[in-house]
Amino acid sequence: MSEDQNRFVADHVIGLPRSGIRDFFELVAAMKDVISLGIGEPDFTTPWHIREAAIYALEKGRTHYTSNLGLIELRREISAYVGRNFGLEYNPNNEVLVTVGVSEAMDIALRAVLNPGDKVLYQDPCFVSYHPTVLLAHGVGVPIKTDAESAFTLKAEEVKKSWEPGCKVLMINLPCNPTGGVAERAELEEIAKFAVEKDMLVISDEIYAEMTYEGEHVSIGTFPGMRERTIFLHGFSKGWAMTGWRLGYACAPADLTEAMMKVHQYSMMCASIVAQDAGVEALRNGDDAVKKMKQAYQRRRDLVVRRFNEIGITCHKPNATFYAFPNITSTGLDSKTFAKRLLEEERVAMVPGTAFGQYGEGFVRCSFATSYDQLVEACNRIERFVNNCK
Ligand SMILES: Cc1ncc(COP(=O)(O)O)c(C=O)c1O
Repeated sequence: MSEDQNRFVADHVIGLPRSGIRDFFELVAAMKDVISLGIGEPDFTTPWHIREAAIYALEKGRTHYTSNLGLIELRREISAYVGRNFGLEYNPNNEVLVTVGVSEAMDIALRAVLNPGDKVLYQDPCFVSYHPTVLLAHGVGVPIKTDAESAFTLKAEEVKKSWEPGCKVLMINLPCNPTGGVAERAELEEIAKFAVEKDMLVISDEIYAEMTYEGEHVSIGTFPGMRERTIFLHGFSKGWAMTGWRLGYACAPADLTEAMMKVHQYSMMCASIVAQDAGVEALRNGDDAVKKMKQAYQRRRDLVVRRFNEIGITCHKPNATFYAFPNITSTGLDSKTFAKRLLEEERVAMVPGTAFGQYGEGFVRCSFATSYDQLVEACNRIERFVNNCK
C-alpha cells in the first residue's frame, strides 16, 4: 500500500502483521503436486444428511433473516448438546448466541468486554487469529508459554507467572490448535481458582473437543465460581466438517450474552438461516458421523506421530485435534526455513510454528486431516528431506 493510501488506515490495523499462514499458502497455490498438511480443516465433506437439511431449507423457501440470537430450534439443540457433553447448562432463550463461526464469536466476545488497553492472557502457541483479534478489539495480548516438555498442556504455574495487573480476560483453547495440547483436570481446576482470585473473565474456545482421543475433555466453566465468568465458544467447523458453512456459537450468562448480542446485531445480524437449519440436523443426528471422522483422525495421528519420531523430528502424541507439532531443531533449520525448503524440495506444505506465536519457533504444524495414503507419501518425502539436511 502506498504512503498516500496508508493515511486512511487505522494505526492499529497498519501495525497488524499479516497471517503467516496466508503468506505461506500463496506460495503453495502457485505450485503443482503439493501434499498440503497445512490447512486446518477436515478433508471430509459435511455428512450428507446435514447437507440434505440445508437443501430442504432452501426448498421450503427459508431465505430470510433469523432472530439475532439465532433460530430458537438451534439454540435449544445447542443448549441440550452443551449440557449433555460439556456439563454446562445454558438457557436457550437468553444464554446462547448463534454466530458466524467461532471466529465471530471470539471477536464479539472480546469487543463486548474489552476497554482500550485491557490485557488478555492467551496460550502461545495458539490459533493465528487470537492475538490479532485482541488487538482489533483494542486490547493488549499477554502470552502464556506452553512447551513440548509438557506436551503443550496448559500449566497453572505458567498462567500465574504470565499474569500481570490489568489482565481482565484469560482466553484459552483446549484442545489447542496448533499443538493438540490439553490441560489435566487438576491443572484446569487450579487455573479456574486463579481466574476467580484475580477476577478474570475466561473465554474458552472448545472447538476441537469432539476430537479428544485419550482422556476426558473437561470444560473450565464447570468448576466452582466459573460459570458466571466464562464465555464458552464452540462451533460446527471441525467436529462436523462444516468450515464453509460459517456456523458457531457463544454461551454465557444472560448479561454477557446480551452484551455480545449488541455487537453481533449491529455487525452480522444473524448467521445464515440455511446453515442454522443444517446445524439443527447436525446436533440432532450427527453423533455417528462425528465419531467416524474422529476414528479416521486417530488412525492418521498414530501414523504421523510414529513416522515423525522415526524420522528424527521429535513429536509428542497429541491427545486431541488433528494437528501434530513436531520439533524440527534436529535438522539445524529454523521453522520458516524448514517449511520453505520442504515445500520447495519435496512439495510438502506444513506451517512454520512461528505463525502461531513466539514459542512456536523450532516446530512446524502438520494437519493430519488429509487421507491416510497422502500422509504415508508425505512422511516418506519428509524423511528424504530430513536425511538430506544431515
Ligand atoms: C482454535 C480455533 N478457534 C476458532 C477457529 C475458527 O473456527 P470457525 O471456522 O468456527 O470460525 C479455528 C479455526 O481453525 C481454530 O483453530
